[in-house]
This record gives sequence, C-alpha cells and structure tokens, in this order.
Amino acid sequence: METFVIHGGKPLFGEIAVSGAKNAALAIIPAAILVDGVCRIENIPCVSDVIIQLDILRQLGAKVRSMSPTVVEIDCRGMKNKKAPDEMTRRIRASYYLLGALLGHYHYAEVALPGGCNFGGVRPIDQHIKGFEALGAVVRQEKGYVTANAEAGLLGGNVYLDVVSVGATMNIMLAAVLAEGQTVIENAAKEPHIVDLANFLNSMGADIMGAGTDVIKIRGVEGLSGGVYSIIPDQIEAGTYLAAVAAAGGSLLIKNVIPKHLDCITAKLSEMGVEIEEYDEAVRVTRRGPLTRVNIKTLPYPGFPTDMQPQMTVVLSLAAGTSIVTEGVWDNRYRYVDELRRMGAHIQVDGRVAVVEGVERLTGATVRACDLRAGAAMVIAGLAAEGETVIEEVHHIERGYEALVDKLRRVGADIVRSSKPDDVRAIPKAK
Ligand code: EPZ
Repeated sequence: METFVIHGGKPLFGEIAVSGAKNAALAIIPAAILVDGVCRIENIPCVSDVIIQLDILRQLGAKVRSMSPTVVEIDCRGMKNKKAPDEMTRRIRASYYLLGALLGHYHYAEVALPGGCNFGGVRPIDQHIKGFEALGAVVRQEKGYVTANAEAGLLGGNVYLDVVSVGATMNIMLAAVLAEGQTVIENAAKEPHIVDLANFLNSMGADIMGAGTDVIKIRGVEGLSGGVYSIIPDQIEAGTYLAAVAAAGGSLLIKNVIPKHLDCITAKLSEMGVEIEEYDEAVRVTRRGPLTRVNIKTLPYPGFPTDMQPQMTVVLSLAAGTSIVTEGVWDNRYRYVDELRRMGAHIQVDGRVAVVEGVERLTGATVRACDLRAGAAMVIAGLAAEGETVIEEVHHIERGYEALVDKLRRVGADIVRSSKPDDVRAIPKAK
C-alpha cells in the first residue's frame, strides 16, 4: 500500500506553481469528441483521473498523443465506438461527460454508471438525464449502464435545473452544441470550469453565451473544428496550498492562479487572520499569528467551495474558539472527521453541520485518505501536527493533485511517498 509519511511542524517557505484544473480537464477532454479536427490542449494536469479519461478516449478509438507532460493532442475523427469501456468509466465520476459528448456528436451514447468519490450518498444524475431528454433523447438506465439515444437528432430545448449541478450544466452544454436550434439552461452552475468548458467549445466554433451566470444559451452550430486551448489553473489545488500555510505556518507565493477564482477562499482566510497579497497571476499567503475562528457554509460558486471544506476544517481545528462548518452541497462529506480526531482535533458532526472546537496542536497518527479532498485535509493536518503522520490510501489524493509530494518538499515540508506492506501480507499466517 502506498502511503505518505510526514514529519510535521515545519513552516512552508518558497513558491508553488499550480497545475491545470482537474475538473475542467475532465470535461474538456471528452468535449474533443465533438470536434472535427485535432484539439491541442495545454496545461493538462498530470493526475490519475485525467490519465484515465484520456485512456477512455483512446479505447473509444481516438488518437491521443502526449506532446509533453502537460500538453496532449486529441483527434476523435474516425472514432467508431460509442460504448465507453465499463471497467474504466466506473473508476471516475467524470466519465458521465462521455454521455453528453457522444450523444451530441453521434446521437447515441452508452456509458457504465460512473464511480468516483463516494461521499454524496447516491450521487444522482437525474438532472443530466432531464437535460438530455429536453433535447429529444430517450435515456434508459439498466444493467449498470446509461444509454442515451436520439435517432432523429437532437433539437434545442429549455432546461431548468432543480439543483445547481456542475456536472449536469456541463453535460447539457456538451449535448447541445451541435443540436439544431437554441438550448437554454436555467439555474445553471457558475464554477470557473464551466466558463472554461464554454471557452474551449467557443474557441472550436461553438456559440455559447452566459457561461458563468445562471442562464446559459447555446445556439447549435453545424460543426466544430480543431484548435489550441489552455486549461485554467486549479482553484482547489491553489486553495489547498493556501490552507496548508494557514495550518502549518510560513509564507508561500502560489503562482499560476487566477486570484478572482480564489476570492471565496482568500476572504475566509483573511477573516481568520491569515495575510493574503494578490498579484496578477499569483497570491502570497503568510501566517504569522494565531488563527481566529470563523463559520463556513459551502455553496455552489461563488460561494465557499465544498471541495475546500475538509482542508479548511483542518485549519479551523487549530483556530482559537468554536467554528461552525455547514456542508451545503453533499450529504455525507465528513467521513474524514474520525481520522482528524485521531490526531487530536475536537469536532462533533451532526448531519451536514460540524462543530469545530479549536485545539492548540494536532499530533501525528496513522490515518486514511477516505477520498480526494479528505486526503488533502490529512496532508495539511500532517504538515501542521507534531510528530509523524502516516497517510494510507493515497491513490485517492493522486486522483487530483499533481506532484503533491515534490511540490511540498520544495517548500520545506518533510513528506515522502513510501510503500507499506498490505496488512494481509504483514500478518504471519497461523500454522
Ligand atoms: C463536481 O461534481 C465536482 N466533480 C466535485 O468535485 C464537486 O464537489 C462538485 O462538482 C460540486 O462542486 C467534477 O467536476 C468531476 P454536482 P458533480 O452535480 O458535478 C446533486 C472533487 O473533489 N445532484 O454539482 O458530480 C448532488 O447530489 C470533486 O474534485 C442531483 O441531485 O457535482 C449534489 O448534492 C468531488 N442530481 C449537488 O447536486 C444530479 O443530476 C451538486 O452536485 C446532479 C447532482
């Protein structure tokens, strides 16, 4: 089993460059299916979810060439297979974007029900399906597969989302770009990666207006042609390093960011007494004194991001006083709290609310990365804690953080990736 071993208590100093946004890349890669030409995509993050998404496209028959660790060229002309390979699609949640992209181009898609982080209970896709149906597709879910079929082609339609869903907003955009007529998505999500997907599609010839607001209008076009596009920086990766300095101390220049995308996070950190200086494409974060308690409620963008909730809860566990964290997006995103308690945090959870009583220090322990952001939270806790922290199941963290260990080591963290024998092998067999 791969682990991270951290000897905490060392402040972080120096510079970290943020990689491309995972959640934008996961939608933009399948969007290449809609393009009649070669898409050169730059600033691709080298993380396992993205590698799987690229492999799925290869298995569907696309030509995918890595030009460098952060640049790929994708050519989906000649792609014949419209059934996504189920062993791979079940491994990542974002495989659901194949539905919108395949349906949009071929009017037929068949995708195994997606996997990914298991913190939202059922994690429904009813809003995605509602959107496809509004465009004239017949959608069926059976034997673990979702099939969407629009033999007569897709016709633009109006969709009012019942919940603000990032995935549904992007999936409906994908299905609608080549549909006949206009599609309107109301109550759309506004996350930066939604704007990024719209910018990618528009740069290839699509006609999408309003991305970044809650009404998106998509006028169907005849076809998209190839081009070059660079993915935006990862807002959550940047936020994670901001939180790491807030918890462990020090001063970091976080480069390759869009400071505006970080406002919801930097505003909270400033309230807590962390110093933030913004530059054009960088943010400096400095923690000198004690942390002040604050309350946090996660909401769709521009609210405080749910994908930063576990990391900020670690910071709050070190702030003087009692903070209330309310999870406004997912049903079950506090599984990591048990692990954090093992490190000395005082946190009580009741449904979607966590009451965090600040402690003076955390202490190292062996803990588990329950999911991607929970794992990032464990890293932050380990960096701030006294003594040794061993984090198990780090494959969850590597789904979304490029070169996390290297980036942290370069700014003074004592963290190594290490192999630990699996338990079954470690326990001698009884004779
Ligand atoms: C995306 O998931 C992100 N994943 C998640 O990030 C992130 O937590 C989430 O958006 C919210 O920001 C990717 O982009 C791959 P949603 P998504 O549809 O699109 C409910 C990470 O850590 N809902 O916006 O699947 C749903 O249950 C990951 O990087 C429906 O009810 O999330 C949830 O309560 C984990 N019906 C809420 O909406 C639907 O059809 C928001 O979900 C769809 C969603």
